[in-house]
Amino acid sequence: MQRQKIVIVGSGLAAYVLASKLWQHADVTILTKNAIQNSNSIRAQGGIAAAISVKDQWQLHVEDTLKAGLFHNHRVAVETLVKEGQQVVKRLLRKGFLADRNQQGELLFGREGAHSQRRIIHAGGDQTGKYLINFYQKLLQGRITMIEGQLAVDCVTKAGECKGIITIDQQNQYHTYSADHIVLATGGFGALYDTTSNDPSITGDGIAIAYRAGAIVSDLEFVQFHPTMLATQARYNDLISEAVRGEGAILVDQDQREIMIDIHPLENLAPRDIVARAIMTEITKGNQIFLDIRKIKNFQTKFPFINSVCEKNNIDLQQGLIPVKPGAHFTMGGVETDLLGRTNIPRLYAIGEVACTHVHGANRLASNSLLEGIVFATRLAEYLQMQPSLSFDNISENQPKQLSRQQPDFEQLRKRMTAYVGINRHETGLKKMLEWLNEFTIIHENDLLSYALSREQIQIQHHLLVALLVTKAARKRTESKGAHYRVDYPNQSEQWKNKSITFQLIKQGV
Ligand code: SIN
Repeated sequence: MQRQKIVIVGSGLAAYVLASKLWQHADVTILTKNAIQNSNSIRAQGGIAAAISVKDQWQLHVEDTLKAGLFHNHRVAVETLVKEGQQVVKRLLRKGFLADRNQQGELLFGREGAHSQRRIIHAGGDQTGKYLINFYQKLLQGRITMIEGQLAVDCVTKAGECKGIITIDQQNQYHTYSADHIVLATGGFGALYDTTSNDPSITGDGIAIAYRAGAIVSDLEFVQFHPTMLATQARYNDLISEAVRGEGAILVDQDQREIMIDIHPLENLAPRDIVARAIMTEITKGNQIFLDIRKIKNFQTKFPFINSVCEKNNIDLQQGLIPVKPGAHFTMGGVETDLLGRTNIPRLYAIGEVACTHVHGANRLASNSLLEGIVFATRLAEYLQMQPSLSFDNISENQPKQLSRQQPDFEQLRKRMTAYVGINRHETGLKKMLEWLNEFTIIHENDLLSYALSREQIQIQHHLLVALLVTKAARKRTESKGAHYRVDYPNQSEQWKNKSITFQLIKQGV
């Protein structure tokens, strides 16, 4: 049988896991926007949640995931994640992934917010993502093609199927990659906000591309803000892992007042949206918030990366107080897929954070994201191994068209996303955001190529389209649920129970 061609867009954990399971059967190419090290996975600190301790049960992990997700999750997706998660994580450990263990060689299980058990497997203390990415990069060395600097522009579709992907490089040259299967693994859109734990490159490109190609996108209003980014003036922020609170750190203000005491029974380990909003409320009142780490023994050994980040930022850990603020962290919505990663467009797939399998509901449970990447990439790999190879058509170029209006700069967009579509949302702000977005030309059709845009203009087109879809979804959901908080509709509503907001481009003449 002819070898299949598979193109994966993105270089995070889901991309690598998929490639590691396919390289023996197919020609795999990974295309990435900047350098291969630019991903969110590599930054993941906490770890991988998996119910593999003898004290744990998969049913408890399912319940914790559903509760954190406000039961907006699809139970079958959650059960798939958790049950298959046990198997994939055990396999990963058998293959030699070096997770942290005690002197007896037993796995050390960390604890994070909204988990009823200690079930977080970690590596290098607080460097799990980096260890995982290094593990897979070594495994894939020389076995697949990796091309850096390729910003994905649009899918090539023919007769309703995805046949390839168009990219633009850093010299503004366009390229077309034809393939049997195109997999989006581009991450979410956290970097559209001005305080974020995300790599700056994570701006929703996969969502924009898929939507223009006719894919369904869902649940975009659910944007998780992590409570504890290091509070500095830096443009991008370092995360202070929830595992720090799991080990006993508490949130206090400048007068050492514990801020979570009357807010939630789980106090410092309450679900992220609740902690993030509590901190934001304090900051809005003019208070400064700190993580008090004085009760944590051997902080430097347990959290070497966070320790070095604090040192770099001149934070004196002898004082035991780390200044924190919330920032955009994870996006629960994305390109709608089934549990094999298939979108509604044949041969176009999405895995990892860019996908919406409805596994996370309205709020992702801590450390379920690396698990999601591994589980759903494994499922897709098993499916693709069974598919036949295709032949390719040449892809034609269109006539250049002109953009009729100016484009905004990225900073203007990030500031507005933060102010109007951030932790607290309100009809007035959402409307203002839409009015502002309407000042620009936002191309919805699957033909960015025909506008002869520069790389920068294409990037802004992706940003604008994603911002528009997120704002519309946030405006439409007139209730508060999990990570989506409407100041003007502070409660959950029966009207929205089990309902997802979805968008799909209606194509003329199709
Ligand atoms: C953290 O370490 O706090 C983040 C982990 C996650 O988002 O799951």
